[in-house]
Amino acid sequence: MTDFRATAPDASGPEVPGSPTPAPAPPGPAPSSAAAGYDVAAMRAQYRAEGIAETDFPADPVEQFGAWFAAAAAEAADPAGVIREPNAMVVSTADAQGRPGSRTVLLKGYDARGFVFYTNYESRKARDIDANPHVSLLFPWHPMARQVIVAGTAERIGRDETVRYFRGRPHGSQLGAWASAQSSVIASRDELDAAYAELAARYPEGEQVPAPPNWGGYRITPRTVEFWQGRTNRLHDRLVYTRPDAAAPWTLQRLSP
Ligand SMILES: Cc1cc2nc3c(=O)[nH]c(=O)nc-3n(C[C@H](O)[C@H](O)[C@H](O)COP(=O)(O)O)c2cc1C
Repeated sequence: MTDFRATAPDASGPEVPGSPTPAPAPPGPAPSSAAAGYDVAAMRAQYRAEGIAETDFPADPVEQFGAWFAAAAAEAADPAGVIREPNAMVVSTADAQGRPGSRTVLLKGYDARGFVFYTNYESRKARDIDANPHVSLLFPWHPMARQVIVAGTAERIGRDETVRYFRGRPHGSQLGAWASAQSSVIASRDELDAAYAELAARYPEGEQVPAPPNWGGYRITPRTVEFWQGRTNRLHDRLVYTRPDAAAPWTLQRLSP
């Protein structure tokens, strides 16, 4: 298996996670990061992973995503592997005024149509998507010196697909989806626990829990998919697939790091 780990320090600084020795104090008040004993500015990894070549990449980015996802999942399955939760991705949205928001969600499916995650349809992210369907997904496979960034448009999936997925969730997660009015302010933790306890009494383990009407999946139809591979001396590889619309063929180009 490829050794994805960061290796020897580069010429300009120490290996991650950075020297625990505080840097010489500059004049003026110490930044809080230095005060905590870590020099954040000096933290950097040197990557030695192999490069990626246009000629090795297939015509379809979803196929390439599948290959990298399989590698991340294999790391996660290996007790000595460097990845946890390979399907965790950062979804960025923007509201009608263009104000951005990001949060982690779990990828629950991908195919030629796009990338699927599940959430509450009244959450902040859902309100953003209602106003502006343009989103970005970022897979932060840093320990493998890799990241994938998908940009595209989000659409609610069909109710049947949501219900099928919901039925396969653990009982506790099913109740949790009902108990949480995601992104809304609550008075206390007790309020949430009480809502859950009430639902648990109504739907004991083994009883079918219906999918909440305000909960379901989004599918992101990709317009660009960028594959980033860390290389030495910050000369990273970036290969990006783009297409003007979902019916058009993909173009693959290299971006300067
Ligand atoms: C590893 C991880 C996985 C998560 N998976 C999901 C998910 O699949 N769906 C979801 O709605 N929230 C998920 N969350 C919680 C979100 O990050 C976020 O707190 C929540 O969706 C509310 O976001 P919003 O207020 O911006 O809409 C996850 C958080 C973490 C750290």
